[in-house]
Amino acid sequence: MKAIVLSGGKGTRLRPLTYTGAKQLVPVANKPILWYGLEAIAAAGITEIGIIISPETGEEVKAKTGDGSQFGANITYILQEHPAGLAHAVKIAQPFLGDTPFVMYLGDNLVEGTLEPLVDQFKSNTLDALTLLREVENPTAFGVAEVDAQGRILRLVEKPKVPPSNLALVGVYLFSNAIHDAIAQIQPSARGELEITDAIQKLIDLERKVEAYQLRGWWLDTGKKDDLLEANRIILDTCLQCRIFGEIDAPSQVIGRVEIGKGTKIINSTIRGPVTIGDNCHIENCFIGPYSSIASDVTLIDADLEHSVILQGAQVLNIHQRIVDSVIGQRAFLKEAQKRPKALRFMIGDDCQIELSS
Ligand code: DAU
Repeated sequence: MKAIVLSGGKGTRLRPLTYTGAKQLVPVANKPILWYGLEAIAAAGITEIGIIISPETGEEVKAKTGDGSQFGANITYILQEHPAGLAHAVKIAQPFLGDTPFVMYLGDNLVEGTLEPLVDQFKSNTLDALTLLREVENPTAFGVAEVDAQGRILRLVEKPKVPPSNLALVGVYLFSNAIHDAIAQIQPSARGELEITDAIQKLIDLERKVEAYQLRGWWLDTGKKDDLLEANRIILDTCLQCRIFGEIDAPSQVIGRVEIGKGTKIINSTIRGPVTIGDNCHIENCFIGPYSSIASDVTLIDADLEHSVILQGAQVLNIHQRIVDSVIGQRAFLKEAQKRPKALRFMIGDDCQIELSS
């Protein structure tokens, strides 16, 4: 079995973060979202992995992720010139896949649990497609399945206005080589994409063996800011290990599960976990509260924050109000010039969101 991981596309929903980078590389608990999928695939014993990349962000994905050796896998990068749809990505990956059955993993999805039960069901029932379904509150944002009383899929629709159920298609699929013929028989959708949902519907119409696996654990499609904060909270809650490599001075307090990277200095600050802090950060006179992820090379001085994600190289200085539920982009600079400023001076990029609340 092989795997393809989709890391192309446009990433419009996480703007402005994704103007400058791939949305699949946005970190959750200081690890790119994409890597969680790669780790799950490698843990299932699948070592031949193709990553679909776009011309805009492909080089960054390659540079960060490498040849796969850190995951115990072999990675082949496959360039998709235009984001022409998930089924289009499978089409251009066909030379890499050959006739081998494969896992398709969307690089912006985070899914709880291992892939083994899925691989087992796919193999033992000799399926042509296995989809992963989960109940959601907003099915119109996803591909949606109509299932019968036995849980068999009757029909699939992509982002329906009137959803036939609340069962969304999670971004993990297993396919036999029959999917390639099905893709050859579908047309682009109204949004101009070759939809994998339509290709699976084609398999159903052709009476091929399609089954669903119902996911009970969490699943996060990290499309928006609140999804990203929620993913961060869940990963910090469930996966964070206590590891301290940096220096903590005597007046500082570190409470609960906290990870601090190499070269990081914590001076006169309180860190209350779960919190992860990357390498080479300078943190002075700060309170860092639960569910915060601070990437590497960040400077925080006289700041107070919780339930927030701070990306690489950002600086937050002299902000006396607590920063909560915030995502601060790479190299962003935030400073309060005096204690109760009479004026606020900004240089804010397109699509940024700033809320000053009392
Ligand atoms: O997240 C689950 C949903 O993913 C499913 O419920 C939908 O049925 C499925 O169509 C898909 O919908 P999205 O609209 O969320 O897909 P998105 O455009 O965000 O693309 C998912 C991933 O695939 C993302 O990492 C970008 C990548 N991608 C996307 C396209 C359209 C590519 O690599 N190439 C592409 O052409």
